[in-house]
Amino acid sequence: MSFLTRRSKRRETQYSDDLRLASYPPPYPDGWYRLFRSKSLGRGKARYLECLGRALVVWRSEDADEVFAMSAFCPHLGANLAGGHVRNDRIECPFHGWQFTGDGRAASVPYSDTVPTRVATESFPVQEVHGQIFMYHRGDGARQQAGEEVPYPVPRIPEVDDGTFVFRGHYEAGRSRMHIIEPIENAADSGHFGHLHNRLTVPWTQFPIPRAAIEYTTRLDFDAARGSYSMPLLVETVFNVGGRRLERTRIKTRVMFSGVGSIMNLRITLPTGGVVEIVQTYLPIGPLDQQVAFHWFAERNVPRLLVWGAVGGWVSQWRNDVRIWEEKGFMAPPMLSRDDGPVMRLRGWYRQFFPELAASPREARP
Ligand code: FES
Ligand SMILES: [Fe+2]
Repeated sequence: MSFLTRRSKRRETQYSDDLRLASYPPPYPDGWYRLFRSKSLGRGKARYLECLGRALVVWRSEDADEVFAMSAFCPHLGANLAGGHVRNDRIECPFHGWQFTGDGRAASVPYSDTVPTRVATESFPVQEVHGQIFMYHRGDGARQQAGEEVPYPVPRIPEVDDGTFVFRGHYEAGRSRMHIIEPIENAADSGHFGHLHNRLTVPWTQFPIPRAAIEYTTRLDFDAARGSYSMPLLVETVFNVGGRRLERTRIKTRVMFSGVGSIMNLRITLPTGGVVEIVQTYLPIGPLDQQVAFHWFAERNVPRLLVWGAVGGWVSQWRNDVRIWEEKGFMAPPMLSRDDGPVMRLRGWYRQFFPELAASPREARP
C-alpha cells in the first residue's frame, strides 16, 4: 500500500472537524495563554500573531522593556499594525503613521492636531513570567483593556524566583489538532491511565521497553481547588518489570492546571531526590488547533540524564493522549461506569472558565 493510499484511508475513518467541533464546549475559555518565548521578542520589535479568534500585534517597548498586546487591525482604517514600527513605548502604523500606546489609545496623528481619544482599540493584559509572554483572554466576548483586573495571575515557581531552580530546556511541540479542554478532561479520566499509558517507553519516543509497565495512582484535589482558579492532580507512578513492582522507581508528580489548563505546571519529585518542574502550555490558534510548548526548570545539580528522562517520559505519554485527542469528540453527558473518575465533578469546576455557558441550564455542556 502506498503512503498516499494509507493517508486517504485514514481520512475516511476520521470525524470531520465540523462534527467534532459541534460536540465541544466553546473553543476559547477565560484564562492566561502563553504566546511565545520572551527571547523571541527583542526590544523595539513587533510580532503578528493569530490566536484565540483574534489578530494580534505584540510588541516590546524600546526603552522600558514592557510588552503589550492589542488588536493588529489599526483602528483608523484597518492596516496591520504589526507591519509598523515601535517608537519608544508606542506602535506606529505603517499606513498613515498614527501612533498608539499599549492600552490601545491613539497618541498622535502626524498630519492633524486632533487625536481621537474617546475610543481605544482592544488591548490585553500581558505578563512576562520565567522567560515566557502570557496574555489574558476573556471568553465572554467583552471588549478587553490592558489594565483591566484579572481574576488570577500567571503561576510563578518560587524556586525560580529565588534562584534555586534554573532553566534547563524547552521543547516547541508544534500544533495538535485538538480542543483546549482535553488535557484537563484527561485528569479526571482515571480509567485511561492503566490502558493508554501503561507501556514504559524510551523517553521522548514510542519505543517500548520490553516487559516493563507503569502503574498509576491518581487523585484530583477538589478541596484545594475550591474557590480557586487552579486544580491540582496528584499522580504516583511506579515501574513494574517482569511482574515485579520496583518501589525505588516510585515518582510523585503534582500537575497544577491553571484556568482550564492552558498552563500546566508539573512538579516531578524524582526517586533519587531532586525536583523537575515542567511548564506545559496550550495556545488555541484555532478551535481545534493548539500550539503546544514545554519548558522546564530544576536545581543546577540534578543530573542532565535524569532531567532528560523525566521530561521525555512525560512527553512520550502526552503523545499517546494526543493520538486520541486529535480524533475524538466530546460526550455530554458521557456514559460512565461506577469506577470511572470524577469526570462530571471536574466539569462542574471548570465550567467557571466558560462564561458563554453561564446563562445556560446546568445540564448544558460541559
Ligand atoms: S490605517 Fe493605521 S494610521 Fe491609518
Ligand atoms: Fe492521558
